[in-house]
Amino acid sequence: MRLAIVGATGAVGHELLRVLEKSSLQFDHLALYASPRSAGSTLMFKGEPLTVQATPDGPIDADVILASAGGSVSKALAPVWVKGGALVIDNSSAFRYDDAVPLVIPEVNGQAALKHQGIIANPNCTTAIAAVAVWPLHQRYGVKRMIVSTYQATSGAGAKGMQELETQTHRLLHGQAAEAEVFAHPIPFNVIPHIDSFQDNGYTKEEMKVAWETQKIFGEPDLVVSCTAVRIPTMRTHSEAITLELHHPATPDEARELLRHAPGVEVRDDPAAQLYPMPLTASGKYDVEVGRIRASLAFEGGLELFVSGDQLLKGAALNAVQIAEYLQEQGALGQPTRATALS
Ligand code: A2P
Repeated sequence: MRLAIVGATGAVGHELLRVLEKSSLQFDHLALYASPRSAGSTLMFKGEPLTVQATPDGPIDADVILASAGGSVSKALAPVWVKGGALVIDNSSAFRYDDAVPLVIPEVNGQAALKHQGIIANPNCTTAIAAVAVWPLHQRYGVKRMIVSTYQATSGAGAKGMQELETQTHRLLHGQAAEAEVFAHPIPFNVIPHIDSFQDNGYTKEEMKVAWETQKIFGEPDLVVSCTAVRIPTMRTHSEAITLELHHPATPDEARELLRHAPGVEVRDDPAAQLYPMPLTASGKYDVEVGRIRASLAFEGGLELFVSGDQLLKGAALNAVQIAEYLQEQGALGQPTRATALS
């Protein structure tokens, strides 16, 4: 099995390499691609330098391509890669709402990946983190309405987002002006209720992604989801306050017990010991932290929870690799000829 990463030099690309180092995915060859600016540079994989190539306009000689170079690159090139025989696991939003493209979180709807026609979409990071925590509750109690408020890290905007936080913080602490480039306003010491473009209904595209994608992944087109998405001055890991109205009443103890056994979830919920989800503890973790689980005052029998999940991992790189692992376990990726080795 020949594997390629497009966008290998980016924030998600970096995590893909780290996740692949620890993954059970069997592949014979790994090729790295980015923009022409990065051609010839090297990235380390399992202690070996691998050379980055400029992404070609045509097909890529790989069985599986993990694409993380943005929507316009995926839109233009993923169909070409598929024609060339590759399966594309795409991290961008380019194909997520296409009925022919499965949108997959292995813990929730892994089987949908088996029905692909060449492209499988990886969900939006905010959606993925919420879905891992809410899906087990939905299966048991049936979610009627889901209200989400987010606290999203700068790395959601890629490596340049983190860079802007660092540069602006340094400038502001030294009495200099902070020029906003990536975000609409200076991000240090601020919160910005604006992620992606505003839509006609007053919500942003990021907020609507959480609604559309949760409905598609859960297979529940009528599920009511409303989100307010906010950028905060952290480097990585998104947090979310989630309110759930449920068809069948839940108690916090039951929900905690259920989530303790749920895949991809770590219950971190002991307020008396000041134990709850935070970016500080969730960063670098594969599991999504869930805590502050309590009976909702807004909806009788409903729940309130707080989640923190490393959006570069479960919200992007990890989920993409888990999709490939799932397909390989199901015998749906072709047989690797030997264990991981590099050329
Ligand atoms: P490069 O580093 O050469 O610009 P991030 O989301 O962190 O900003 O990363 C985006 C990734 O997508 C980087 O690896 C970047 O490469 C890559 N990229 C950006 N534009 C293109 C392009 N036109 N073709 C291929 N890769 C691209």
